[in-house]
Amino acid sequence: MNPGSGSAQATSLRSHRAGSLRREHAGTAVRLAGWVHRVRDLGGVIFMDLRDREGLVQLSLDPKWTSREVLERAGRVAQESVILVQGTVELRPETARDSALASRDVEVRVTGLEVVGPAQVPAIPVARKEGEELPAEELRLKHRILDLRRSELQQNLILRHRLLQRARRTLTGLGFLEIETPILTKPTPEGARDYLVPSRVHPGEFYALPQSPQIYKQLLMVAGFDRYFQIARCFRDEDLRADRQPEFTQIDLEASFVNEEDVQSCIEAVLVALWDEAGETVTPPFPRLRYREAMERYGIDKPDLRYRFELQDLSGHLRGDAAEFVTGAVAAGGRLRGILATGLGGASRKDLDQLAAVAKGARASGLIWARRTEAGWEGQGVKAFGAEGLATVTAAPGDLLLAAVGPDSVTGPALHAVRMQLVRRPEVTPSTRHAFCWIVDFPLFEQDPGSGAWVFVHHPFTAPHREDLNRLESDPWNCRALHYDAVYNGNELGSGSIRITNPEVQQTVFRLLGVAAEEVRRRFGFLLDGLAAGAPPHGGFALGFDRITMLLAGAQSLRDVIAFPKTTAARALFEGAPTRVKEEDLKALHLKVVE
Ligand code: AMO
Repeated sequence: MNPGSGSAQATSLRSHRAGSLRREHAGTAVRLAGWVHRVRDLGGVIFMDLRDREGLVQLSLDPKWTSREVLERAGRVAQESVILVQGTVELRPETARDSALASRDVEVRVTGLEVVGPAQVPAIPVARKEGEELPAEELRLKHRILDLRRSELQQNLILRHRLLQRARRTLTGLGFLEIETPILTKPTPEGARDYLVPSRVHPGEFYALPQSPQIYKQLLMVAGFDRYFQIARCFRDEDLRADRQPEFTQIDLEASFVNEEDVQSCIEAVLVALWDEAGETVTPPFPRLRYREAMERYGIDKPDLRYRFELQDLSGHLRGDAAEFVTGAVAAGGRLRGILATGLGGASRKDLDQLAAVAKGARASGLIWARRTEAGWEGQGVKAFGAEGLATVTAAPGDLLLAAVGPDSVTGPALHAVRMQLVRRPEVTPSTRHAFCWIVDFPLFEQDPGSGAWVFVHHPFTAPHREDLNRLESDPWNCRALHYDAVYNGNELGSGSIRITNPEVQQTVFRLLGVAAEEVRRRFGFLLDGLAAGAPPHGGFALGFDRITMLLAGAQSLRDVIAFPKTTAARALFEGAPTRVKEEDLKALHLKVVE
């Protein structure tokens, strides 16, 4: 990749980017500008690596072609300083080609050098020796601009740029219009996690930063724009994990006169284009998996389909000799579910303990295991399962059976965690590099595990499934939604739905969730008025753009694909935010801090 090459390289201060120099430039007189990455002073002869966003080139300063004055100046220049140099590109001797540099074949023989941006000793090193570990992340975030000079992060942000441009081109090609929606908004429906902005001119009143452009994009459909997209910044004040940030970017879209398949095929086109931009070929359509089936076969609604080892219901194999804790849990409405890990019977005791710890970490009471040998089943699970019952399970010598008992809400996540641990084993190979799928037919409502209250799974504007509409009143908790998620290698890339356009259905959904009519009016009146103004059938989707970039860059954290990210404690360490403000500023906003 040579993203920055082209006409925009030359400026009044330089003729080429340092990292762009190649064989074909040999003999060319160049003016370069960049950062001093590394200096090797061999006493008399000095080599430097000059760095810019395209990479490194070796500068060679030798009394044969460099004046004494320039050599002396170069001898004093500190690492990470910005310099301007003049010289000639020369082929390096065959033996001295540095395969780590893209510009390995050439060096620049320096005749002029000027220090235009002297640097203090960097707080964290930018140039690292091979195999040298990175400083702790907190330190790197504190000195973010130095860390951003690292080539991995430069490459990640260059990739991010290219993916964004490709998404824009693809959606524009599909007839979508890029329309911006407000950042100062009315609180949005995704939940209570709004960042609020006090109004100075309206004492006691607040804007909210958008958790997503959801309502606005629906209103744009009502307004007749037919196809909208936006690279939308979203803000959510929620508990953070490695794959979440308080502010993040969505590729957000909405379309009119569509059904779920129409939306899905637009998203497939975007995903194919993004993967192509990263050099990967993927082919739509992606398989559809019903939510229930995903939960049954994988214990999760974002299964990693690169791997085998599906969950099975083993309850039917139990006979009279099963342990009491197993029969008791099944009698209480639970199930014995398990994974037959074919060929993994060689797992050591330590491996099995680790798998059990993973299952317990996901709230299972324990993990039942048995390995199949030539002589039959052996292991702790023989007693729990019962030898008679186990004998009815089909397996081959060398297989390992792992099982958990209890309600599906426990066995599903526990066995999913066990499955993800199993696939890390070196003998397990993925069947493909890219496993996309659509999860469809989500339930419309779910019970909040904490309070037991019924809540919407996605957001309250998701349309009930056409086949379930007639039981929305009589059997709402078993209604499915026209909601779909895009999943890739076990990651949720995004989600979307067909929306409710019938104001009566919308009112029913709110009533079922126990939202009082006045509350609905107060919070969502502007949407309901919109729907009553002649609303086209419409639906949409939002892709988590940071997450996609992270996956395509092969990065471990969203922080590695965002220029100035927040920590998991939602702090910006480089600039130091959030921060206290002066008393008089609070006063102007009609605010008082209660400690
Ligand atoms: P949802 O809330 O599922 O849907 O968000 C869509 C996608 O956005 C990404 N995402 C995040 N990425 C980083 N940090 C976060 N805190 C974060 N939260 C979400 C995920 C997620 O799949 N308005 C609806 C979409 C619609 O119905 O059209 C919405 O926002 O990848």
